[in-house]
Amino acid sequence: MSDLIKEIQKRRTFAIISHPDAGKTTLTEKLLLFGGAIHVAGAVKSNKIKKTATSDWMEIEKQRGISVATSVMGFEYDGYKVNILDTPGHQDFAEDTYRTLTAVDSVIIAVDIAKGVEMQTRKLMEVCRMRKTPVIVFINKLDRDGKDPFDLLDELEEELKIKVRPLSWPIDMGHTFKGVYNLFQEKLDLYTPSKQTVTESVELRDINSPDLENHIGKHLANQLRSDIELIEGVYPKFDVDDYLRGELAPVFFGSALNNFGVRELLDCFVKIAPSPRPVLAQERMVEPEKDPFSGFIFKIHANMDPNHRSCIAFLKICSGTFERNVNYKHVRFNKMMRFSSPTAFMAQKKETVDEAFAGDIIGLPDTGNFKIGDTLTAGEMLHFKGLPSFSPEMFKYIENADPMKTKQLNKGIDQLMDEGVAQLFTNQFNGRKIIGTVGQLQFEVIQYRLLHEYGAQCRWEPINLHKACWIECDCNEDLENFKKRKYQYMAKDKEGRDVFLADSNYVLQMAQQDFKTISFHFNSEF
Ligand code: G4P
Repeated sequence: MSDLIKEIQKRRTFAIISHPDAGKTTLTEKLLLFGGAIHVAGAVKSNKIKKTATSDWMEIEKQRGISVATSVMGFEYDGYKVNILDTPGHQDFAEDTYRTLTAVDSVIIAVDIAKGVEMQTRKLMEVCRMRKTPVIVFINKLDRDGKDPFDLLDELEEELKIKVRPLSWPIDMGHTFKGVYNLFQEKLDLYTPSKQTVTESVELRDINSPDLENHIGKHLANQLRSDIELIEGVYPKFDVDDYLRGELAPVFFGSALNNFGVRELLDCFVKIAPSPRPVLAQERMVEPEKDPFSGFIFKIHANMDPNHRSCIAFLKICSGTFERNVNYKHVRFNKMMRFSSPTAFMAQKKETVDEAFAGDIIGLPDTGNFKIGDTLTAGEMLHFKGLPSFSPEMFKYIENADPMKTKQLNKGIDQLMDEGVAQLFTNQFNGRKIIGTVGQLQFEVIQYRLLHEYGAQCRWEPINLHKACWIECDCNEDLENFKKRKYQYMAKDKEGRDVFLADSNYVLQMAQQDFKTISFHFNSEF
């Protein structure tokens, strides 16, 4: 096997997703601890953002600045190179998370045993399903009382719309939590609440062995045996190919705070999670292990500090090897560019790298050359697909508050949209610009940045909209007819695609009913 193939096959690039407070930060931190990337708990701060009062978005931005360092956390574990991509904890920045999910090869979903599947998890899972991303579920906080594990498995299947298969099983929970039976490794992991990283494990291939009673007592031993019997009877055997196709989610139980079940999760994860997967470009399927180099920008992080105004563009390498100071093609500009200080992220440190491989994420210092979705290649004209925009949740008209600065305002809006801060729609009827966001905070960020970075002033005006739908139709006549009938609600997105702005769910349903040949899509990559 060539060195390049070896390098790429040992890479595991993934993100942890969850509803706020389910334990994503704690789990991330414990994985880093096991991976030797950090040595003390409490080192991962990025997700604490959500704990800040929502009105104080400047504070949030400052923390987002800190979180550049934790945007990607790489470490070596058991011969694998693990890259964890951080996702913002604050819901108003969910669009960032959607985009990050386009750069990962698999996902771990953290779920709180007491709360079960929550709204944010459901939404993020939709993106995973769309992309057929393999997912593993970690049920967290077993040291607390929660839902019945069997009920929770049903809930996962129903809410996340995926088949599940437990690979570990809890023995009681809350105050009387005894540990888990690890079905993947056929051993009994005994729980002692602690901040330490060692779990007492007993090899137990046969759970009918009387040894089980010695460890957890007769009552719980019987319970566990009957639970396992039920699991083996009800759930199909774990098939790693089903998992890799994104059709089956293995489930683990544990307590991230107490370091319990995390190493077992990691051990299984590195074994079964996919190495970088082929990526579909408009022109062809791009195989990771084949040179030449290619990659795409999935995130742009602007520095809010006016004294150091620069961005970092995050590039996911899709194929081959990226090298420092080598000329690569910026496909949208059809122009060669060289990068003298690309950074990689190891053990929470940002450092300049000479080379990086498919599966890795590197940071490229940028002064406005990149926008989300841009492709870099060794020379080929490739365009990667699959960087969808989703219908925003909130909409406002953006108006110029300083007529002397129209140019600056337009330039600012243009660049902020390229960075992916929010989405711009231009109403075809009155020509007014509409900004769509996931949350209120983004409007404040835009207003502030327009003023401080572009010297432009904007004003927001209300508009009552429910959803933006990208529309499509095989019959041009039908499409034109629809656009004529709905002319007040037709807009173009930034790429010039037709978007129908429905002002209520009712209007949308009626439109779907009345115009059967038109397809309404809730993301731009249908
Ligand atoms: P998030 O990133 O998904 O939002 O969650 P985070 O890890 O910040 O965890 C949310 C809260 O849940 C934290 O408590 C954390 O300590 C707690 N937690 C995480 N894992 C476990 C677990 O296994 N058992 C229990 N009992 N609690 C857990 P907090 O009080 O909000 O924050 P902190 O002051 O402890 O940082």
